[in-house]
Formats: sequence, structure tokens, C-alpha cells
Amino acid sequence: MSVRRGPVTAVDDVSVTVPRGTVTGLLGPSGCGKTTLMRAVVGTQRRVSGRVEVLGRPAGSPELRGTVGYVTQAASVYTDLTVEQNVRYFARLVGGVDRADAAIDAVDLGSRRHHRAGALSGGQRSRVSIACALVARPRLLVLDEPTVGLDPVLRADLWRRFRALADDGVTLLVSSHVMDEAAHCDDLILMREGRVVAQLTPERLRSRTGRENLEDAFLALINEAGS
Ligand SMILES: Nc1ncnc2c1ncn2[C@@H]1O[C@H](COP(=O)(O)OP(=O)(O)O)[C@@H](O)[C@H]1O
Ligand SMILES: [Mg+2]
Repeated sequence: MSVRRGPVTAVDDVSVTVPRGTVTGLLGPSGCGKTTLMRAVVGTQRRVSGRVEVLGRPAGSPELRGTVGYVTQAASVYTDLTVEQNVRYFARLVGGVDRADAAIDAVDLGSRRHHRAGALSGGQRSRVSIACALVARPRLLVLDEPTVGLDPVLRADLWRRFRALADDGVTLLVSSHVMDEAAHCDDLILMREGRVVAQLTPERLRSRTGRENLEDAFLALINEAGS
């Protein structure tokens, strides 16, 4: 698929497959097209050419609405509602009010459940956003830079929770512009300037480039592609 956004080709002739039940990392520098690709998968992106198929259906099909979760880069929660009110609201929309507490616990916000979302830190607010997506029990969860602004402890914890979801059969597509996050993923899609540089496992990325550090490995791969 390709996506035009204004004068730029934001996603340029990309062909990838995200395996079910895995944590797939979508990695690359700011502006390389991660959000645009995710929007195409979720079905909110205009001017997509080519073919995008999600769980056997064209991206954006009405039947997918209940099974695809999307956590946008900017937390989309009601700042004047408490954590619990936000999560219960989204839970009620999908008939899952009984799952609200588990979703709040899953993002470790139990102690903040009665705090207004507007009074939370940026990282906490993005975890409210994730909880609001989790109550729908999506089979595909698309998360756009969910770990930005989180301290290292919470970040590691969130990746553990993503892993647990994948072990339960959920497919996760998680973007980041920080290469060290790649170590938490089963599979990596590495992007640069709208194109996919490579799709491979972290282990394969290390062995192919001979670099232990994943950021060095990514740079080596780019140099290799450019030469
Ligand atoms: N609303 C928009 N209108 C026009 N161009 C856009 C818009 N949003 C993003 N772009 C362009 O599309 C490209 C990819 O952006 P994006 O998908 O947001 O990258 P990333 O998420 O990797 O930072 C960039 O060149 C960006 O300038
Ligand atoms: Mg983005």
C-alpha cells in the first residue's frame, strides 16, 4: 500500500504482514510514516492505495469495529472525568462494564481510579487511553507510541502486559521512535522515509548486522541499504 498526505507520499509502496498473536514493533524516526501506516490499518486514513487486510477483511470494514482497538499517539480521554469514569464509559459502549476494573488494574492505575484524567501526568493519561481500548477486548490492538513519556520501570511493565496479551492470542502492533524498545518485540518492521527498510526479529537484526545494540544495528542496516 501507499498513502499520499498532501504533497508527500507518507507511506511508499509498503508490503508487510503482522503475524497473529505476536507483538510487532513498528519502528523508525519521527515522520517516517508510522502513524499513517497505523491509521491505514485501523481504517481512518484517507487516500490509501493498494490493499490493507485486517483479520481477513478490508481495513475499516464495519465488522472490524468491535475487534480492532486503536490507541492514538495523543491520549484521547475526557480530562474532566476520573480514570474510572473514562474506562467505565468506554466499557459501557461495548457492553463490558464488568471488565472496567481489570482494565484499570492492567495499566496499574488502581490507586488513581478516582483522580480526574486532566490531573494525571502525560504517561498516566496515556495509560488511561490504553485501559479504554482494553475493555473492548480487541483481537488486534494498534498502539501508537504508547510508552512515550513513561519512566523506565513503567515502560518495562507495559511491555510485559503487551506480552501477556499476545500470549492470550491478541495481535499487537506497537510503534516507537526509540530503538531500544525493539528488544521487547517478537517481530520488527523498520521504517524510514515512508518505506520499510526490513521486517525481521530482533535476533535476526543483531545477527545480520553483527551489532548487539539495536540502535546501532538499525543504523547499520540503513547504511547497508543506502550503499
Ligand atoms: N495531516 C497531515 N497532512 C499532511 N501531511 C502529513 C499529515 N500528517 C503527517 N503528514 C506527513 O506524513 C509523513 C508521515 O507522518 P507520520 O505518519 O505522522 O510519521 P510518524 O508517525 O512516523 O512520525 C510526514 O512527512 C508528515 O509530515
Ligand atoms: Mg506518529
